[in-house]
Amino acid sequence: MKSAAPSVKTGGDPAWQGRVAVVTGASSGLGLALAAALAERGALPVLVARDATRLRQALATLGGRGECHALDVRDAAGLRSLARDLAQRHGRLDLWFNNAGLTLAGEFQQMRAEHLQRMLEVNLLGVLNGCSAAYALMHEQGRGHIVNIASLAGLLPTPGLAGYAMCKHGVVGLSLSLRLEAAQRGVRVSVACPAAVDTPADPTRAPADLPQLPEAPWLRRFLDAAAGRPAPAAEVAQAILRGTARNDALILPGKSRAVAWLYRMAPGLVWRDSQGRVAAARGRDAQSMK
Ligand SMILES: NC(=O)c1ccc[n+]([C@@H]2O[C@H](COP(=O)([O-])OP(=O)(O)OC[C@H]3O[C@@H](n4cnc5c(N)ncnc54)[C@H](OP(=O)(O)O)[C@@H]3O)[C@@H](O)[C@H]2O)c1
Repeated sequence: MKSAAPSVKTGGDPAWQGRVAVVTGASSGLGLALAAALAERGALPVLVARDATRLRQALATLGGRGECHALDVRDAAGLRSLARDLAQRHGRLDLWFNNAGLTLAGEFQQMRAEHLQRMLEVNLLGVLNGCSAAYALMHEQGRGHIVNIASLAGLLPTPGLAGYAMCKHGVVGLSLSLRLEAAQRGVRVSVACPAAVDTPADPTRAPADLPQLPEAPWLRRFLDAAAGRPAPAAEVAQAILRGTARNDALILPGKSRAVAWLYRMAPGLVWRDSQGRVAAARGRDAQSMK
């Protein structure tokens, strides 16, 4: 899916003005939209991703408002020194969005160990690395806000995305637990669980250095039908910043609120609906699914 480059308006919001805000995975998709929304409010977005060229291009779309650092979220020491460096140069570190992630879809028995391992390293351990780096600094400062980007797949079962859902459930558990521990230290922790977002990410394509994912045509049909129309990244980013400003524990942008509520109230209904959709996408009768 293609999403338009974000446009940054001038002006600002006194509540956000001058805040130093790290966004990982900020060269594309939701991360770039978050960086744009932060710049629009007058904050200083610090864009992090691996590819320096794409990062510079991303920063240019923000009119150069911010700074960028080529870093892999698997590099725990690199993230820690970034946090220290920012605090030294700017005298503050206000926000840290752990957004970098990748989605790999596939039938569980066909996924290779390296696909699952990569998701675990980036989507879960990468978030843990970001939390450790930000929390150490914010704990010292006695203030700050960590916002982890999980997914609706972090709250409910998602067939075809078992490895991804495992990581995102982990991110939700980490965030809500750390939130309670951090509150008395003046540090806030929130977790956002968006449903489908319109970004360039393609869950059926593996990163270039990994084997391609086995074809599963039913899975594409299932994911498209289950996810519905993806929300624009800019809209989701705005919802996440509103939730951040309210200090929501769980930020549920757009339709994820209704789905998460339904799953909490009537999990059986969601299970049956999901099983029926898997069966329909596989071209089998829903009745034959046990
Ligand atoms: N798209 C959706 O429907 C959706 C729904 C719910 C939640 N989410 C979550 O939202 C987040 C962003 O997703 P997206 O769809 O916006 O993805 P995207 O467009 O593919 O962007 C991913 C970003 O992460 C960076 N990245 C990937 N691996 C990295 C690593 N190891 N270290 C540092 N940066 C890395 C990428 O840049 P480099 O490759 O240059 O590093 C890129 O900037 C993810 O956590 C995803 O799970 C997405």
